[in-house]
Amino acid sequence: MTSRITLSVDGEPVTGRPGQSIAGVLLAADRAAWRHGPSGAPRGVFCGIGVCFDCLVTVNGQSDVRACRRTAHDGDEITTQSRSAS
Ligand code: FES
Repeated sequence: MTSRITLSVDGEPVTGRPGQSIAGVLLAADRAAWRHGPSGAPRGVFCGIGVCFDCLVTVNGQSDVRACRRTAHDGDEITTQSRSAS
């Protein structure tokens, strides 16, 4: 079994361990926030159990994936999202 996995986050490699959620990989990489809400406030993990939708990311082209609920896989391409007014 591979002891490390590598994700691409906005084109930057981020390593994690098999079985971690995408949010777990991001938090372990010192990324506490990866999107902005409508007010522009930073968002990341809030509930951690799939209820609040604060942790949304795009995974392999699929938008609005809850990072706290999706297991990370080697080679996943993660793109951060934002809903802030521009
Ligand atoms: S942190 Fe609340 S849904 Fe992911």
